[in-house]
Amino acid sequence: MTHPILITGAAGGQQGSTGRLVAGLLLQQGIPVRAFVHNLDARSNELRQQGAEIIEGDLLHPATVQAAMKEVKRAYFTYPVTDGLLEAATIFATAARDAGLELVVNNSQFQGTPDNPVFRDLQHAASFRNLQHRLTDRIFDWAQLGAVHLQTPPYYENVRALVSRSVAEQNTVFLPWGDGNAVIPLTGAQDVARVAATLLADPGLPSEDVYSLVSETPTVLEIVATLEKAIGREIRYVPITDEQWADAVKERLNPHALDHLSHLWQHFRKGAGNYRTTDVIRTVTGRNPQTLEEFFLENAKSIGASPQ
Ligand SMILES: NC(=O)c1ccc[n+]([C@@H]2O[C@H](COP(=O)([O-])OP(=O)(O)OC[C@H]3O[C@@H](n4cnc5c(N)ncnc54)[C@H](OP(=O)(O)O)[C@@H]3O)[C@@H](O)[C@H]2O)c1
Repeated sequence: MTHPILITGAAGGQQGSTGRLVAGLLLQQGIPVRAFVHNLDARSNELRQQGAEIIEGDLLHPATVQAAMKEVKRAYFTYPVTDGLLEAATIFATAARDAGLELVVNNSQFQGTPDNPVFRDLQHAASFRNLQHRLTDRIFDWAQLGAVHLQTPPYYENVRALVSRSVAEQNTVFLPWGDGNAVIPLTGAQDVARVAATLLADPGLPSEDVYSLVSETPTVLEIVATLEKAIGREIRYVPITDEQWADAVKERLNPHALDHLSHLWQHFRKGAGNYRTTDVIRTVTGRNPQTLEEFFLENAKSIGASPQ
């Protein structure tokens, strides 16, 4: 493949660092990567050392996005959980269409599964952010640039971010997740990246335009039990109110992310979704999805496991 693949979010960030993972997977295969980074820093230096071409830019600035598309046929689009998704996606879709791209892998959010009647229905968006993703998917479709949408529920990495501090300090998970029986569909960011990298590296074009990735559908109590097993000590789950949770995280989360997650927790507590695991990760990548237990085991130290 002679055309570089354009990877946005390539430095990685506070969520799943999917762009960083996709860039790494493609570079390992010797595929040229044009890494679109928001800032030149140690992360972009590391990518350069790994062989990526670095281009500094802002997804909200059309000129930098247009410049990044030169000689590109395929791209990965991801945008952080903050304001501006619709603008960034529209700028990206416009530039991609003008540059004649054949494939954009769009990192979207869960919208049900194809066998679920509410699939992609705008009225069923769990939050304003989720609605923005549903609209973004359509913008990419309308641009007719061969976009495919990876629609995923919360990442395992998100669960880690939510529980690490209180588990390390108090052996307790404090979350507004109700009585413990709510189902929380989950997927690992590593698998999101593997699916994206597989589709981008395949010389053919994807057979689907929507890939719904659900690796596990545990209840809250099952998540806590899996964590206990992985880190080897007893963990309590203490349900808290939405207000208590918002108060505890407001210094760490931007208002957009806080609004999104608060609505998502309400959605899960209501049991509004009909969540089932999907076979997409295995069929696309040829590997079984990472399990939550494997994720917790691999990340035990950063989730406050006791020293051995
Ligand atoms: N986390 C979850 O549980 C979850 C689940 C399902 C779907 N998603 C979706 O996944 C997406 C987040 O993906 P991710 O995990 O790859 O994100 P991430 O780890 O937060 O990385 C975001 C990257 O985007 C860069 N960036 C920020 N603002 C930018 C701008 N204006 N222009 C160019 N680059 C910019 C950041 O660079 P700097 O750090 O240098 O600013 C960072 O490298 C969101 O759309 C979210 O809805 C997340």
